[in-house]
Amino acid sequence: MKEKSQFENKTVIVTGGAAGIGRAVVEALAARGALVYAADINEAGLKAITDSVPAVIPVKLNVSQQQDFQQVIDQVLADQGHLDIIVNNAGIGLAGDFNQTSLADLEKITDINYWSVIYGTKFAYAQMIKQGHGHIVNVSSSGGAMPVPNQSMYSGIKHAVLGFSHSLREEAAHYGVKVSTVLPGMVQSDMWDSAVNVKDYNLKKSMENTGLKPISAHDAARAILKGIIANDRSIIFPRINRVTLWFYRLMPNIFTRLFVTPLAKPESATP
Ligand SMILES: NC(=O)c1ccc[n+]([C@@H]2O[C@H](COP(=O)([O-])OP(=O)(O)OC[C@H]3O[C@@H](n4cnc5c(N)ncnc54)[C@H](O)[C@@H]3O)[C@@H](O)[C@H]2O)c1
Repeated sequence: MKEKSQFENKTVIVTGGAAGIGRAVVEALAARGALVYAADINEAGLKAITDSVPAVIPVKLNVSQQQDFQQVIDQVLADQGHLDIIVNNAGIGLAGDFNQTSLADLEKITDINYWSVIYGTKFAYAQMIKQGHGHIVNVSSSGGAMPVPNQSMYSGIKHAVLGFSHSLREEAAHYGVKVSTVLPGMVQSDMWDSAVNVKDYNLKKSMENTGLKPISAHDAARAILKGIIANDRSIIFPRINRVTLWFYRLMPNIFTRLFVTPLAKPESATP
C-alpha cells in the first residue's frame, strides 16, 4: 500500500524496459500506479510488454543516439509536462580477452552502457532542476565496484557510472534532485546470452562457473523500488552482494587473490 502511494501518477522513463531487469521494473512501477514509458531498441520486446501491461507506453529508442534520446524526453515532457523518475538501465555485456577485443566493440559498449547514462541523466536533470524535484536512477553493477577480469571494459564503464552518479548525487541535492546508483549482483536475464563474446569466450558459461545462483528480475525490481523509496545512494542486491562488496572494500588485496585472480584464468570461461 505504502509503495503504491509513492509511485502513483509519477511519470517514469525506464531504458532497456523491454526485457530483463528493466522490464521487471516497468511492470512493478505500472502495478503501483506510475505512468511508465518503456524505452528500448527491441520492438518485439516492447510489444510483448504492452500486450501484457497495456498501460505501459512503449518508445522505440536506441539509447546511444543522443538526439533520439533528447527527442524522447522532449516528447514525454510535451505529453505529461513533467518527469519524475528516469531509470537508466539499458546495457549490454562484452566479455573476453581485452587484447583481442576490437575497437568497434569497445566503442559500442561505451556508447550503450556509458554515454546513454550520461544522455539520460543530462536531459532529465535539466528538467528536474526546473521542477525542483526528480529522481535519477543509474544502473551500474557489482562489477562497477570491484574488478572483473575478462570483462575489463564492462567493469570499467560500470565504475564510471558509479563514480559519476555518486558525485552528481551531491551536486543534485542542492536542486532537490535525487540520484541513486544500482549495483546488482547476478540476476536472471538474457544479458549473458546476448553479450558480445570475444573470440571463443563464453560469458554465460563463465557466470555459471561462479557457482552463484542468480536472483529473478522481479526480485531485482523489488529491491530497486525499495531503494528508490528510501533514496539510497547505492542500491545493492542480493544480500550476498553487499557482503562481497564490503569484503572487497575492506581487504581488496586478499579478496582479489581469493576470488578475482582465479576468474582470470582462461579455463574458467570454457566448458
Ligand atoms: N543481469 C545481471 O546479472 C546484471 C548484473 C549487474 C548489472 N546488470 C545491468 O542491468 C542492466 C539491465 O541488464 P539485464 O540483465 O536486464 O539485461 P537484458 O539483456 O535482459 O536487458 C537489457 C535491455 O536493454 C536493451 N538495450 C540494449 N541495447 C540498447 C540500446 N542501444 N538502446 C535501447 N535499449 C537497448 C535490450 O534490448 C534489453 O531489452 C544493464 O545495464 C546491465 O549491465 C545486469
